[in-house]
Amino acid sequence: MRIKFSIEGVEKLEGLVTLILAAGLGKRMKSKHPKVIHKVCGKPMIEWVVDAVEKIGSNEVIVVVGHKAEEVKEVLKERVKYAYQEVQLGTGHAVMMAEDLLPEEGNVLILTGDTPLITSNTLKELINFHIKEHNSVTILSSVLEDPTGYGRIIRDESGNVIKIVEDKDATEEEKSIHEINSAMYVMDIAKLKKALRRITNNNAQGEYYLTDAVEIIRDMDGKIGAFTVPSEEITGVNSRVQLFEAEKIMRKRINYRHMENGVTIVDPDTTYIGAEVEIGADTVILPGCVIEGKTKIGSDCEIGPNCRIVDSEIGDGCSVTYSVILSSKIGNNVKIGPFAHIRPETVIQSNVKIGDFVEIKKSIIDEGSKVPHLTYVGDAEVGKNVNMGCGSITVNYDGKQKYKTVIGDNVFVGCNVNLVAPVKIGNNAYIAAGSTITENVPEGALAIARSRQTNKEGWVQERIKKGRL
Ligand code: UD1
Ligand code: CA
Repeated sequence: MRIKFSIEGVEKLEGLVTLILAAGLGKRMKSKHPKVIHKVCGKPMIEWVVDAVEKIGSNEVIVVVGHKAEEVKEVLKERVKYAYQEVQLGTGHAVMMAEDLLPEEGNVLILTGDTPLITSNTLKELINFHIKEHNSVTILSSVLEDPTGYGRIIRDESGNVIKIVEDKDATEEEKSIHEINSAMYVMDIAKLKKALRRITNNNAQGEYYLTDAVEIIRDMDGKIGAFTVPSEEITGVNSRVQLFEAEKIMRKRINYRHMENGVTIVDPDTTYIGAEVEIGADTVILPGCVIEGKTKIGSDCEIGPNCRIVDSEIGDGCSVTYSVILSSKIGNNVKIGPFAHIRPETVIQSNVKIGDFVEIKKSIIDEGSKVPHLTYVGDAEVGKNVNMGCGSITVNYDGKQKYKTVIGDNVFVGCNVNLVAPVKIGNNAYIAAGSTITENVPEGALAIARSRQTNKEGWVQERIKKGRL
């Protein structure tokens, strides 16, 4: 396979092969799951890396999996090819495990699965630099104030890169170098394959280091270069604290993107928007909102303060206050909250009002209806312009099964009504307050299902006389 890279027109990088190392244990995460599937802004770290790679047009991505391989595969599925490293003997060994899947010539982009902050732009620049410089190896490097733990980039007097020395193998003098290896590279495949034969585990950690390939390729007269970028993008995640730090940077990137698209975010520090969320212009997000999954919010909405919205669609001109919305669809000009809980599979059409302390589950509320206070609607179809009185409830569960309530258009449900499902209320019907409805109500009827009131005159006085009060 011929690898063609364009230098200027970076949009199309035909035949680019990428190798992502993700077989390690990630011990410092102290997790039963592999490190690379831990999420940053709702998306597994390795998926961020694969997304960045796909954006630059890499049509072949190979991921080296090992520790809990199945869980990594469950995330990436058929998007990539897999190589398997049964025992983790080092980054060089990981590449050896994928050798057969690499073509014989061209260049390979090598990345790790624990650097979610890397962007496609930087990867493009790295590749273009590699091509332009006619390098055999280009290392993505960075200069860190505290380089502890990282491999150091060793240069000769003229500034040419000669090798990488791991922190644990470095001399005191080498340790004082601040330019570090990000563990991302572009390498000439033919030279890399030759170098892999010569990598040994004769070092402080007894591992086969991929970093040793640099010096070996240089000895084969290969040209080595380093492309230096600011540290933010290359920061790896090895612990929960670093996961949080990556999350903070990513969250800021996401929030800024929305702001650039015309969304007002009053306090980005307390606004948590998932990677795939879409928000229309002139929508205002007030503090304390968590908006997750494949949520889509229209224009001119006011969301918050303090809402959680997951996998839901919200139309234009809505307001949602102190509420939770899960896997539901909301039309235009809908008001929700404060303190409403919209549970999965709910459809709320336009111009509906859902007020305080209302729970709606797996129901349809048609246009113009109002559910203003203290109501439970479950497994129901509520027609247009219905008023659900305060405290009205669909009694959908008999302890074993769930039943459906169907309410027609223009129905007025009085306060504190129980609608015992299965039950149907015809169009234009009225239900008297306090009724427990167990039978269907015909169109246009008034249903009263409660005993008539009796007043016992003078009852209190009687009791006092008898000395009982
Ligand atoms: C590596 C680099 C170091 C660099 C640092 C940047 C080597 C020898 N060192 O060190 O120069 O500064 O990254 O973060 O490459 N992996 C496998 N199989 C293995 C070992 C590791 O797939 O047998 C994967 C891990 O899952 C991880 C990546 O390779 O995604 C890096 O491994 P890690 O052990 O974190 O390398 P570092 O010691 O950080
Ligand atoms: Ca690492």
